[in-house]
Amino acid sequence: MMPPTRQDGHGVIVTGGASGIGRAVVELVLQRGGCVGVVDLDPSKVDDLRHLHPGRLITLTGSVLDPDALRRAWTGCTAELPAPVTGLVNCAGIPPAPVGIEQLEIADWTRIVDSHLHGTFVSCKTIGAELASAGRGGSIVNLASVLAFRPGPVLAYAAAKSGVVSLTSALAVHWASQGVRVNAVAPGWTDTPFLRPKDRAPRDLGPIVSATPMGRLLQPREIAEVICFLLSPAASAVTGSTIPCDGGVMAGSGWAPYGGFPAAQADACAERLMPAT
Ligand SMILES: NC(=O)c1ccc[n+]([C@@H]2O[C@H](COP(=O)([O-])OP(=O)(O)OC[C@H]3O[C@@H](n4cnc5c(N)ncnc54)[C@H](O)[C@@H]3O)[C@@H](O)[C@H]2O)c1
Repeated sequence: MMPPTRQDGHGVIVTGGASGIGRAVVELVLQRGGCVGVVDLDPSKVDDLRHLHPGRLITLTGSVLDPDALRRAWTGCTAELPAPVTGLVNCAGIPPAPVGIEQLEIADWTRIVDSHLHGTFVSCKTIGAELASAGRGGSIVNLASVLAFRPGPVLAYAAAKSGVVSLTSALAVHWASQGVRVNAVAPGWTDTPFLRPKDRAPRDLGPIVSATPMGRLLQPREIAEVICFLLSPAASAVTGSTIPCDGGVMAGSGWAPYGGFPAAQADACAERLMPAT
C-alpha cells in the first residue's frame, strides 16, 4: 500500500515557497512525487528554485496581496502541471518588528498585518475558492505561529497570526461540505532567514533557544513534514485545527529556564519521599 504521506498525483501551490519553511515543503512534495506551483515575492530566490524539477515545478514572482498574481498561479498550475492542484500552503510573510507600541509606526503595523493576515485571506479567497469549486476536495494549510497563542511583547505579527488561526477555523467550517480541509501549523522558532532579516543587526538567538524546552532551533524540514501530513489523505479527519510544532514552547511556557522542576526543590522532595536508609 502507498505510504499515506506520498504526494504523487497531486499538485500544491505554495506561497512564500522560495525560502525557509515554504521551500522545505516544495522540496518534500517534489521528493514524494507531487507537483508544485510557487508564488513568491523575491525574484532571486525564485530563480534558485528553477533547477529543482522543471517538469513538476512552476514558479511565479508575485505577491500574495495581489489577487491577479494568484489567479495567474492557479491558471498556470492547472494548465501546465501534470497533476490536478488539490493543495494550498500559505507560507508568505515578513518578519515581526522588534519594537513596542510607542515606536511601532502605523505603516509598519499595517505592512505586517497585511502580509500575514490579509495575504492568507487573499490567497484563500482566490486559490482556496478555486479548489472548493473544482469539486475534487483539497487541503489548505496556513502558517500561524506559537506567537498566536503566546505573543510575549510582539504586536502586529502575533495579532495577525491569531487572526490566521481564526480565519483557518472559519474557512474549515465554510468548506467542510465541499471536501476542502483547512488547517494551520503553529511553529516555534525555526532556523530560516526569517530569524535573521538581512536589513537588521545580527541577533543573539540564545534567548529563544533557552525558551524552547527542546533546547534548539527547529529545522524547516520538521515543520514541512507536519504540513505534508495535513496535505495528505492521512489527515482526512483533520480540519479546523491549528497544530503546534514548537519544540515544547507552549507546553513549557515559564518552565524552560528550569528545564523541569527547580533542582533544589526536587532534591528536597526526593529526600522526603525516599528517606535515606
Ligand atoms: N521561522 C520561524 O521561526 C517561524 C515561526 C513561526 C511561524 N513562521 C511562519 O512561517 C512562514 C514562513 O516563514 P519562514 O521562516 O520560512 O520565512 P522566510 O523568510 O524564510 O520565507 C518567507 C518567504 O515569503 C516570501 N514573501 C514575503 N512576503 C511575500 C508576499 N507578500 N508575497 C509572496 N511572497 C512573500 C519571502 O520572499 C520569502 O521567500 C511565515 O508565515 C512565518 O510567519 C516562521
